[in-house]
Amino acid sequence: MKHFLTVNDIESLPNWVDEAINLKKDPYQFEDLGKHKTVCLLFFNNSLRTRLSTQKAAMNLGMEVMIMNFGNEGWALEYGDGTVMDQGTSEHIKEAAKVVSQYADIVAIRAFAGLKNKEKDEAEEVINGFAKYASIPIVNMESSVGHPLQALADAITLKENETKKRPKVVLSWAPHPKALPHAVANSFIQMMKLQDVEFVITHPKGYELNPEITKGCKIEHNQDIAVENADFVYVKNWSSYSKYGEVLSKDTQWTMTKEKLGKAKFMHCLPVRRNMVVEDAVLDSSQSLVVEQAKNRVFSAQIVLKKLLKNI
Ligand code: CP
Repeated sequence: MKHFLTVNDIESLPNWVDEAINLKKDPYQFEDLGKHKTVCLLFFNNSLRTRLSTQKAAMNLGMEVMIMNFGNEGWALEYGDGTVMDQGTSEHIKEAAKVVSQYADIVAIRAFAGLKNKEKDEAEEVINGFAKYASIPIVNMESSVGHPLQALADAITLKENETKKRPKVVLSWAPHPKALPHAVANSFIQMMKLQDVEFVITHPKGYELNPEITKGCKIEHNQDIAVENADFVYVKNWSSYSKYGEVLSKDTQWTMTKEKLGKAKFMHCLPVRRNMVVEDAVLDSSQSLVVEQAKNRVFSAQIVLKKLLKNI
C-alpha cells in the first residue's frame, strides 16, 4: 500500500480487523516501529476524534507527531496548473507538498467537501494534489468523498459486537440543520460491500447518494420497514447529492428513537446532534456503540500507520 486514500486501499479487511483487535489488547507492541519517524497531520477542517485518535495511534507506534491547522494557519493553496497567482492564493500545492515531504515520513490530511461544486469536490484537489506532488505516503483523514479511517473503525466495532454470522446492518439518513458531506456514508457503504452482512440503506426520496457507490445496494425509502429486525443501525445525515449540497428536508420523523431502534445496536461517527439526529434515550442507553466506535479510531489509524511504516 503506497497511500491510504479510500476503503479500497485495505488489502485484506478480515486480516486488518483481526490485527486491529489484537493491537487493542497491547497497543504498544510495535512501539519501536515508528522510532525517528514523523507523521504530519494537516487539518483544513475541524476535528476532535480524528485529530486525537490519529495522534494517539502514532504515539503508540513511537512516532513523532506534527499538527497544523492548515485551514486558518497555513497559506491559502493554489491547485491549478499554470495559474497566474494574482488573486487570494499564496502558495502552490507543488511546493507545499514537496516541502512537507522533507519534514515528515507520512502526511495525513483532512479536507472536506465544499458542497458548492460537485465536480470540484469529486476531483479531491487537496488530497490528490498531495498524492501527486508529495514523495511520502498520504493518509485520508476525511476528504470530500470518503472517510476510510472511520469506516475501518466501524468495521472493527461491528466485528466486536456481532452476535450472528450475517447481521442485518441499516444505514439510515437523519435530519440535521446544516448541509453535511457524503464522505462518512460513502465509506461506510463501501465497507459494507466488503462484509458478509444483510445491508439496507434508508433515506427520504431526493437523498440518493452517488449511484456508483450505492450500486447493488438495497434501498428502502420507508425507514420503519428498513430497520425491522436490524442488528445494527448506523445513522448519519448527508445533504442531497443530485441537488448538490442542498438540505431538502429536516423532517424529524427520521430522527432515530428507541422505539424505532428496537433491539438493534446504534452507531454514529460523531459528532452528533442530540434529539435532532437521535434522541437522548438511544445515546444514553447500552445499545449505543458511539463511544466504542470513537475508541476504535485509534486502532484503525494505528493499523494504517503500521502498514505504511513497514514500507518506508
Ligand atoms: N468522526 C470523526 O471524524 O470525528 P471528528 O470530526 O471529530 O474528527
